Amino acid sequence: MKKISKICCIGAGYVGGPTMSVIALKCPEIQVTVVDLNEKRIAQWNDDNLDNLPIYEPGLKEIVAETRGKNLFFSSDVDKGIDEAEMIFISVNTPTKTYGKGKGQAADLKNIELCARNIAKVAKEDKIVVEKSTLPVRTAETLKSILDNTGKGVKFEILSNPEFLAEGTAIDDLLNADRVLIGGDETPSGQAAKDSLSWVYEHWLPKERILQTNVWSSELSKLVANAFLAQRVSSINSISALCEKTDANVAEVARAIGFDSRIGSKFLNSSVGFGGSCFQKDILNLVYIAKSFGLQEVAEYWEQVIIMNDYQKRRFAENIVSTLYNTVSGKKIVFYGWAFKKDTNDTRESAAIYVADALLEEKAQIVVYDPKVSEETIYADLDYLGTRDPKENRELLQVTKAPIEATKDAHAIAILTEWDEFKTYDWKKIYANMLKPAFVFDGRRLLDKDAMASIGFKFYKIGES
Ligand code: NAD
Ligand code: UDX
Repeated sequence: MKKISKICCIGAGYVGGPTMSVIALKCPEIQVTVVDLNEKRIAQWNDDNLDNLPIYEPGLKEIVAETRGKNLFFSSDVDKGIDEAEMIFISVNTPTKTYGKGKGQAADLKNIELCARNIAKVAKEDKIVVEKSTLPVRTAETLKSILDNTGKGVKFEILSNPEFLAEGTAIDDLLNADRVLIGGDETPSGQAAKDSLSWVYEHWLPKERILQTNVWSSELSKLVANAFLAQRVSSINSISALCEKTDANVAEVARAIGFDSRIGSKFLNSSVGFGGSCFQKDILNLVYIAKSFGLQEVAEYWEQVIIMNDYQKRRFAENIVSTLYNTVSGKKIVFYGWAFKKDTNDTRESAAIYVADALLEEKAQIVVYDPKVSEETIYADLDYLGTRDPKENRELLQVTKAPIEATKDAHAIAILTEWDEFKTYDWKKIYANMLKPAFVFDGRRLLDKDAMASIGFKFYKIGES
């Protein structure tokens, strides 16, 4: 087994950045270089002011402060990074295809193929290539075919090492990972490559938590893990709708079932719907793969998780309209939160985008406050949907950095992200600011119903009547 001294990671995003920072922190003898074609992103990673890093994750800037310039480097010189490294992680984005065959479902592997061709072009010595991105099962075969047929005769060992971190808790998830999964060929050289990668993680994780499998099990397990997690959220969200009709309380139901050790208590928080760059994309990918093997029932089973999630977002928006006397036209609705969950500035597939879009169709006047998301991102998210003119989006929706002042003369507040600070606001003051009746729609079950009602709010909470 070879001890690695130089690692390169292609892709300086939400996975590449934090993962490599933690490897650099825990493996001081390894030189880690993170490369990206996006020069702006690299410049942000190299910014002297650590508050300007391109992504926000609790604990990240402290680690970057400790390692950057010592054994952690960010560069836009992709070729040099590849050339120097013995082990190359591919951590580029693999979004859902927006064109051609598999549009709307299959993973777009364009970036992966570009990486493979780049590695093949540059590599002069044997390399271990690690799939860190989430990929359809059997992608390693494609990678191998490109590397072996376009390279300069050097030997490539391909490993699958999917990442299980969740945003907002990425650093803790990396430092205390439940498990690390390493898939590779069951040949002597495949085993040696798996052991080399295990050795990296063994710097800080117990060996028992490092699982080795064949490549295909590893690739598939990543999709399945996300599908199971998302399925739990959709399951409890389906029950939230029933709770609202029956006077049952979804939190009490979740607690009652979660006490069963076979079910477990985690991931049973009912919400306005799951978001994030992974759940929907990975389930769609799973659905596509199942269909491509003729497994229609399997595909339909998993597709239902997404159908339920879309229903939950729609249901939340429709409830706002119907509660506000069936019209929100010209009414000021303040959104607390835009990120897909707290403690991240990531907004990909955030429920807030879809709820806003539905309310803008009804001509609501929305004011958004999010502590970490920029105005530029919020407008970009809406414009990307293409539902209306960008100009109209800017007329109907404003972004604010003053959450309390924004509630002046508002008809309603909708809580879309569970940021802790919302709990500490002076809700009496907010109530005084608003038009009466003052409505709050809590899509994250963040606030106490009785306390809000006693202030005078008409308070609606997902999963409670
Ligand atoms: P991201 O969009 O934040 O970052 C990807 C980066 O790759 C971008 O900066 C992009 O410029 C760069 N890139 C794309 N093609 C490139 C190329 N050919 N050469 C150099 N750089 C290139 O994406 P992410 O959220 O970090 O996700 C990366 C992968 O990890 C995806 O497959 C995703 O499914 C998976 N994943 C993500 C998470 C998460 O929480 N975000 C968790 C687990 C797994
Ligand atoms: C997820 C997986 O958890 C992680 O293992 C994988 O590597 C990437 O995808 P992430 O999307 O970053 O991570 O966040 P996660 O905490 O899973 O939340 C996803 C969405 O589900 C968020 O919108 C969150 O608010 C929502 N959610 C989560 C709920 O609505 N209820 C829950 O009980 C849990």
